[in-house]
Amino acid sequence: MKSFTITLANRDGATFEVDAKKPLLDSLRAQGVDLPYGCKYGGCITCAAKLVKGEVNQKAQVALNNRQINDGYIILCVARPMSGCTLQIGVESHDRLYRNPFLDPLKPHELKADIATPREA
Ligand code: FES
Repeated sequence: MKSFTITLANRDGATFEVDAKKPLLDSLRAQGVDLPYGCKYGGCITCAAKLVKGEVNQKAQVALNNRQINDGYIILCVARPMSGCTLQIGVESHDRLYRNPFLDPLKPHELKADIATPREA
């Protein structure tokens, strides 16, 4: 099996060898890492972690928007490593996952184009 080393930056730099073909959530939990998760199909965002270094394939995820991806978030239940990676895991990595819409409103290009508009009466 092709494997990569995953380093957990916020777990004292602990390292784990993981299968390149398996989702990171499964590989890390199988080795005793305590990780939050919900749906396990990439839709609920509970398992988000921050990718500090390295590359993953997370094409199957549907939970993250572009801003969250640009901030380095990955969805562990579907992400497969494509290189050695360093991650921040758990809820303490979620500091930039959600934003306060009053302090930090969406910019015009981040608004969804398909928001329903009221019908003319
Ligand atoms: S557990 Fe729901 S997105 Fe990963």
